[in-house]
Amino acid sequence: MRIAPSILAADFADLSGEVEAVDSVELLHLDVMDGHFVPNISFGPPVIESLRSRTDVYFDTHLMIEQPERYVDTFEAAGADRLTVHAEACEDTAAVVDQIHDAGLDAGVAINPDTPVETIEPLLEDIDLALVMTVQPGFGGQSFMHKTVEKVEKIAAISDVEIEVDGGVDAETGPQCAKAGADTFVIGSSLFGRDDASAALSELRAAIGIDAE
Ligand code: DX5
Ligand code: ZN
Repeated sequence: MRIAPSILAADFADLSGEVEAVDSVELLHLDVMDGHFVPNISFGPPVIESLRSRTDVYFDTHLMIEQPERYVDTFEAAGADRLTVHAEACEDTAAVVDQIHDAGLDAGVAINPDTPVETIEPLLEDIDLALVMTVQPGFGGQSFMHKTVEKVEKIAAISDVEIEVDGGVDAETGPQCAKAGADTFVIGSSLFGRDDASAALSELRAAIGIDAE
């Protein structure tokens, strides 16, 4: 199990400083939003490229964008390691997964709180990550939606794929997700919203039951 800090809640004017505060993590979660698939706009490839020059950490890139197939090569060139696309945003999700793999990257598929596991079930063997959204995508700092936990259980029961939970994950909801079978815990505001992100990271690891590296 591991924590993936989401820089969405970080100070964008001091991104490298914020990332340094959590430099013991194995992966960073990068939330790309286009103002179409979700109402919010965050950042895109240039920011990822700049960050890439500062750290070797694995870039877990969450694309909350329409037609993600148009940007696979751009995000690969910017330094992404994994591209996670939304099943709701793809006309042919399997084809996009193949495209991501052909670009040499790991491929994830995300589902919104109202999208059933069945939507991605045929893909579970081919993908590197199933991302279960535990809030409606678009904004940090929302409340965890408890009904999504059973989807984590369902995926864990039928597949060995890595399962990531994203949205409203904290010291209380994280352990519930861990119990259900989640492997990777995206955490934004409960980390970067705190004065000391490094201390918050240690506390969250302890709460979820993750051994510090
Ligand atoms: C929401 C994003 C999340 C967000 C999580 O659409 O996908 O990654 O940053 O933030 P918190 O932890 O604040 O819910
Ligand atoms: Zn995310």
